Amino acid sequence: MLVVSVGGSPSLRSRSGVLLERSRDWLQQRGVEVVTFQVREFPAEDLLHARFDSPQVRHFNELVAQADGLLVATPVYKASFAGALKTLLDLLPERALEHKVVLPIASGGSIAHMLAVDYALKPVLSALKAQETLQGIFADDSQISYADGDRPARLDEALEQRLLGALETFHGAMARRPQPVAPGLLNERLLSARWSI
Ligand SMILES: Cc1cc2nc3c(=O)[nH]c(=O)nc-3n(C[C@H](O)[C@H](O)[C@H](O)COP(=O)(O)O)c2cc1C
Repeated sequence: MLVVSVGGSPSLRSRSGVLLERSRDWLQQRGVEVVTFQVREFPAEDLLHARFDSPQVRHFNELVAQADGLLVATPVYKASFAGALKTLLDLLPERALEHKVVLPIASGGSIAHMLAVDYALKPVLSALKAQETLQGIFADDSQISYADGDRPARLDEALEQRLLGALETFHGAMARRPQPVAPGLLNERLLSARWSI
């Protein structure tokens, strides 16, 4: 199983990034391969000039094409998801998320904007033809503490439980998803069905 993790925060010290790290560790403990991308690590010019032929963007697209699922994390910015993340999602091909399960993750300063994922990010994932976009996780800043010296980053108990539940659902949905049938195999099956009638 392959998961592509996309961090949408421009900040190096990132609360939504803490949620992504937790998710990555949980998935890796279950034998899932997780490849991580951070929007801030793409060349800004490639994103702002929509360079579809950028080597980094092409590499990202190739891994998304191979993935079973995506973790997409973003801070809430101005009642929506981060614009930097949008510049990357804009460079994915039209049906990039077909056959894939997506778990959206967001952190925000206030629960007033907890629906930003639903009204802003989910329509974009849907436009990219995600097969299944899960309910997702929203955390407010008070629920996540950064790592400090030897002390690892911490989530409050309620958030930790919600994240674990969402990851179980994500893992289960990826395991259950119908596998696309290769065109050659489909042809073979149709031919043998004809002979068996
Ligand atoms: C430019 C900017 C705009 C923000 N706008 C909102 C907002 O509209 N609603 C909200 O709840 N939080 C807002 N926040 C707070 C961030 O969403 C919040 O601190 C988030 O956890 C940051 O995530 P990160 O650490 O992964 O970057 C904003 C922060 C910044 C820097």
